[in-house]
Amino acid sequence: MRRIIGAFKNPASRPRAIIWSGVALVGIVMFSAVSVIGTSVNWFCTDPCHVVHLDNTKTFEAGSHVQVNCVSCHEPVNANPLVFVWKKLEVAPDLIPTIMGTFDLPMNKGSYVAVEMPDIMCTQCHALENRDVTPSSGIIIDHTAHSSQGVTCATCHNRVAHPEENVEYTLPGDEKHENWMTMDACFRCHTLSGESESKTPATGKCAACHPAEFELVPTTHAADGWYTRFGASNGHADAAKAEASQTAEAMAAEPLELKHAVGPVLQTAASVNNCYTCHLETFCSDCHGLSMPHPADFRKTHSEQGLSKPEVCAPCHARSAAEAKDRAFCNACHHPDSKPGVLWRTQHDDVVKSKGIGECFDCHGAMYCEACHVRGPAAAEKYLRDN
Ligand code: HEC
Ligand code: HEC
Ligand code: HEC
Ligand code: HEC
Ligand code: HEC
Ligand code: HEC
Ligand code: HEC
Ligand code: HEC
Ligand code: HEC
Ligand code: HEC
Ligand code: HEC
Repeated sequence: MRRIIGAFKNPASRPRAIIWSGVALVGIVMFSAVSVIGTSVNWFCTDPCHVVHLDNTKTFEAGSHVQVNCVSCHEPVNANPLVFVWKKLEVAPDLIPTIMGTFDLPMNKGSYVAVEMPDIMCTQCHALENRDVTPSSGIIIDHTAHSSQGVTCATCHNRVAHPEENVEYTLPGDEKHENWMTMDACFRCHTLSGESESKTPATGKCAACHPAEFELVPTTHAADGWYTRFGASNGHADAAKAEASQTAEAMAAEPLELKHAVGPVLQTAASVNNCYTCHLETFCSDCHGLSMPHPADFRKTHSEQGLSKPEVCAPCHARSAAEAKDRAFCNACHHPDSKPGVLWRTQHDDVVKSKGIGECFDCHGAMYCEACHVRGPAAAEKYLRDN
């Protein structure tokens, strides 16, 4: 240092000292500029950091923003050079796990990057106030209704630059994210019941988001066995059970750890029960008539409830419209050899004749038949009235 100062003091070496310091200064500036620019081009984000960003680069390349620079969305907009350099330094510690291969996966679990992304990242290019959005057919969207409530772009368009549908992830442990452009994700705020965990609740009426000609019944419902009156209906039952268990699992998951949330912090789309985006719970219970599944001791207790309110049981247990009348549906289980809809009393003799009476006493006491058969018609009539 003293020699450098000395070189400046000495008139003979001063010009050379000035020239060389100038060269050094230009060198530093060039190096910094190349570093800042170099670390800002997509190549730097994708290739040297290949290991970390392998999956992410694939999704980027499948997206509509391939021509856009990574830093336009991932570093502050129009920041001064100091902030810009600071942003570079801030991520410098990531270098070690990148080289050592000890980085945490899955990457961006729970999509916190989207929750922390301000609108300016998008509005720098997309000025929605002077652009008519033409959504795909069947969807209605009102951008102002959301931005006026502080709902950020990435709250819905989270995967816009990294669509994952047709991409296969290869990093071990990496996982795909929720896509918030789905109806379930809209129902993190919108609800049919009016109850919402969101601080910005909104309507779930179909007409708010779908035009009149839109087909409201989803394709899942057309599958065989989804629901057939007096036929197979296990399709919707299995789907409802699968959905309920998946929803419960998602609700039990740990909440997001967020540092700089700017968008609303919402429950996950997976914790929205898909059935209740289109149906109120009363839609289900009106048909079921009781809470499902049956209580554990129902084998012992169902006859009373079944006899007093047969119309509740019949939609699920009757084998035909005729059997849905009165207590006839009991036969579906108790006398499975019976013909649906014909009084068992008038057909049990056929079954006794073809199959014998052995099975009858699995349920009936030894004296049951006698109640009608031995004591004659009057006793049989009385028995029928009393039972
Ligand atoms: C048009 C804006 C935009 C551009 C351009 C963009 N990204 Fe993203 N990126 C996002 C958004 C929005 C998310 C948040 C996704 C989420 O949370 O579900 C994200 C998420 C990520 C993540 C977290 C992992 C993931 O898939 O969620 C990484 C890493 C990433 N981007 C890297 C890049 C790289 C590298 C580039 C350039 C090759 C790039 N991004 C270009 C908007 C962009
Ligand atoms: C550097 C400019 C730029 C930035 C930043 C940017 N976009 Fe884009 N975006 C484009 C261009 C260019 C297109 C393709 C042309 C078009 O459709 O407008 C596009 C297309 C889109 C589309 C339609 C195509 C599709 O994939 O659905 C949406 C939606 C979109 N951008 C949303 C966003 C969101 C949300 C952000 C912020 C996370 C964002 N953009 C950030 C430039 C940008
Ligand atoms: C509440 C959810 C939501 C929010 C918030 C939101 N959008 Fe959208 N956006 C949509 C939907 C839904 C569509 C229609 C998508 C379709 O066509 O299938 C759409 C369409 C668009 C399109 C047109 C795409 C095309 O193909 O023409 C652009 C561009 C866009 N949004 C940008 C933005 C920007 C920028 C912001 C933030 C200022 C934003 N959106 C906020 C849900 C949202
Ligand atoms: C973060 C919460 C939130 C999410 C997520 C959300 N919305 Fe909204 N939405 C709102 C709020 C709040 C309003 C305004 C309600 C009001 O003004 O009463 C609204 C209003 C609307 C409206 C106007 C409704 C009307 O009565 O005319 C439409 C259309 C809409 N949203 C579509 C969508 C779509 C499509 C999605 C999913 C892609 C979505 N929203 C996701 C909060 C949300
Ligand atoms: C807040 C906005 C919003 C409301 C309210 C809404 N939808 Fe949707 N719906 C969407 C969006 C966005 C999509 C397309 C994205 C997707 O694939 O989930 C969609 C897709 C659909 C589909 C086709 C996808 C599928 O699952 O087969 C059907 C059917 C549908 N909606 C029915 C309804 C019915 C019925 C209602 C009223 C009970 C309703 N929607 C209310 C936003 C909404
Ligand atoms: C995207 C909207 C949507 C979703 C999601 C949805 N449904 Fe439906 N569902 C409908 C519509 C619309 C109808 C016709 C309603 C009507 O006729 O009143 C319907 C009818 C039904 C019916 C009666 C069938 C019939 O023929 O009368 C059952 C049962 C049913 N849904 C069960 C379910 C279950 C269980 C789930 C969840 C696994 C579910 N739905 C999810 C829209 C939906
Ligand atoms: C139109 C009448 C009807 C409607 C509406 C209906 N269900 Fe069902 N549900 C049935 C029938 C019939 C069965 C018996 C199916 C079988 O044979 O397994 C059943 C069975 C079930 C079961 C299996 C019972 C168990 O616990 O083992 C579940 C779960 C179920 N439904 C859920 C739903 C949900 C959730 C909805 C509303 C979204 C709904 N159902 C709407 C008629 C209906
Ligand atoms: C929503 C449809 C639904 C309704 C309504 C319903 N059940 Fe069931 N019930 C079922 C299903 C599904 C099973 C299971 C069948 C199986 O496992 O094969 C079942 C099983 C049973 C069983 C056998 C229990 C066991 O342990 O094996 C009895 C008894 C029964 N129901 C009686 C009734 C009676 C009585 C009513 C009216 C009070 C009724 N159910 C109403 C769907 C229904
Ligand atoms: C879904 C099939 C199913 C239906 C429908 C059904 N039962 Fe049962 N019921 C059973 C089963 C299973 C048992 C237990 C048999 C055993 O313990 O071996 C049983 C047992 C009984 C018992 C003996 C209870 C005890 O104390 O052990 C009576 C009484 C009875 N049912 C009456 C009825 C009547 C009345 C109806 C119509 C209103 C009816 N059941 C409808 C399946 C059914
Ligand atoms: C799984 C148990 C079970 C078996 C096996 C069984 N029953 Fe029954 N049976 C019942 C129950 C429960 C009732 C009462 C149901 C009702 O009130 O409709 C009943 C009622 C009857 C009735 C009176 C019907 C009426 O109109 O009141 C006759 C008759 C009868 N059983 C005959 C038989 C014969 C014959 C057999 C053998 C082929 C047989 N049962 C096997 C459970 C059984
Ligand atoms: C509720 C009264 C009642 C009970 C209990 C009853 N039966 Fe009957 N049974 C009748 C009636 C009524 C007939 C005549 C049916 C007809 O011809 O349509 C009959 C007819 C018969 C016949 C045909 C008789 C013939 O002469 O052709 C046989 C066999 C029979 N029952 C067996 C049984 C057995 C076994 C049991 C006990 C498990 C039983 N029944 C319980 C009312 C009853």
